[in-house]
Amino acid sequence: MKVFPVLSLALLAIPIFGQQYTNPVLWEDLADIDIFRVGDAFYYSASTMHYSPGAPILRSYDLVNWEYIGHSVPKLDFGSRFDLIDGSAYVKGIWASTMRYRARNGLYYWIGCIQGRSTFVFTAPSITGPWEKSSVISTCYYDAGLLVDDDDTMYVAYGQTTISSVETKSVFTSPSSIGTLEGSRMYKIKGAHYIFVTRPANGQYVLRSTNGPFGPYTIKQVLLNVPTPISGGGVPHQGGLVETQKGFWYYMAFVDSYPGGRVPVLAPITWGSDGFPILTTVKGSWNASYDFPLPPRPTKAHTGIETFSGTSLGPEWEWNHNPDTSKFTVNNGLTLSTATITSDLYKARNTLTHRILGPTSSGTIVMDYSQMKDGDRAGLALLRDSSAWIGIIATSTAFRISFFSKLTMTSTWSTSNPGGEITSAPIEGGKVWLRVYADIRPGTGRKGEFYYSVDGEEFKMLGMLVLNSDWRFFMGYRFAVFNYATKGLGGVVRMSEFGVDAPGLKTTVA
Ligand SMILES: *[C@@H]1O[C@H](CO)[C@@H](O)[C@H](O)[C@H]1NC(C)=O
Repeated sequence: MKVFPVLSLALLAIPIFGQQYTNPVLWEDLADIDIFRVGDAFYYSASTMHYSPGAPILRSYDLVNWEYIGHSVPKLDFGSRFDLIDGSAYVKGIWASTMRYRARNGLYYWIGCIQGRSTFVFTAPSITGPWEKSSVISTCYYDAGLLVDDDDTMYVAYGQTTISSVETKSVFTSPSSIGTLEGSRMYKIKGAHYIFVTRPANGQYVLRSTNGPFGPYTIKQVLLNVPTPISGGGVPHQGGLVETQKGFWYYMAFVDSYPGGRVPVLAPITWGSDGFPILTTVKGSWNASYDFPLPPRPTKAHTGIETFSGTSLGPEWEWNHNPDTSKFTVNNGLTLSTATITSDLYKARNTLTHRILGPTSSGTIVMDYSQMKDGDRAGLALLRDSSAWIGIIATSTAFRISFFSKLTMTSTWSTSNPGGEITSAPIEGGKVWLRVYADIRPGTGRKGEFYYSVDGEEFKMLGMLVLNSDWRFFMGYRFAVFNYATKGLGGVVRMSEFGVDAPGLKTTVA
């Protein structure tokens, strides 16, 4: 019998830096986590479906403070529907995927199956890019998990229920007592191969082989229905394992937290004498707090004012589908020219999105609307499969501030209702502050509120949206900045600032 080497007791002690972190480590929609370390830096890859660029990369030096540094998929180059031409690709695109570093050639790899058909491989010589498409494999590696083994061989564990690795051999079939397993992550730890798999959406299991990557594997439960650290949220699951440079292990999972999306939570892992990982729970729960894994090292704040300095967008921004790059510029401010003639925001190109910070936050834009054309609509939305916005509607003679709501999608993510104007008021002066406050704590009945100001001091509420907390759209609500035409192209708006405050600012006036 092969016995997994028993870790020394010293390694099971929790490191103490006099400070605890709080779950979620980042209250933003960043699902399908893959996580790994190179040197003293940790990297986090997430799925983004129809948002472009896709597969954001975050970096941390303590597993708790995370900073956006780029995207693995610069463009959703998977057909014109990803450009919002000839249809749309809502809830398609970047699903659970994998990212790893290969030391031998110094390349970072991102691998993901697109639309259930083929698997795209993107590589980069540096984590911040440039990322380029390096190959397309005609098989779908569903929920791929990449391992670069000690001898440099690359394995991809993938599949649903029957977990395969890429030769292609089926290596494990889930027993009916467990059911669906997916979201593979693959590791080589102390000579054994592990495939870490989720049972959506309430369990996490691990497969272990001491007989090489193709098994046979034995399975063990890591967690099932463990109480969540986020009040009202789901069971932490999926995600991955990572070892600090000090030899301590952590599991970063996500928690379903609709209407906000899926947010990351972190907990320490120890290893049993049987070689299987053990989640560190407190009274049977995934705790709200644990000691910091490493000395805290703060990164760029996720709140504050963005002035769109320089000539390109920061990595925290993603477009709704691929943008028409001829219709926007970044030059110490964001200029959006209308790119689509439509009466449906879901069909309008060049809507720029930003994740909402939980539990509550507000997004505020400062917008010059003086160059809008008759029929144009521009403003700030809460975007999901049930949406609303506040913005300016231009006519041939005047402007009005408008609250527009009841935009909804069907269960297959085409527009069921393009919505309509609920209320409006005349406005003049050419400059407006638009603010959307959102409460994305998990649960039903959470609200978004829509405000405007003509001086940046006094904000008046114009409308309210009850947020849809159903999980089926997968992505959570986002702040979304848009400018589209209903009559003819040529209109322009300029956003000089976008600010995020958490907890959100409201500043109502009577
Ligand atoms: C669990 O969380 C509580 C409250 O956040 C905290 O006081 C306690 O130290 C945590 N336990 C561990 C083992 O970190």
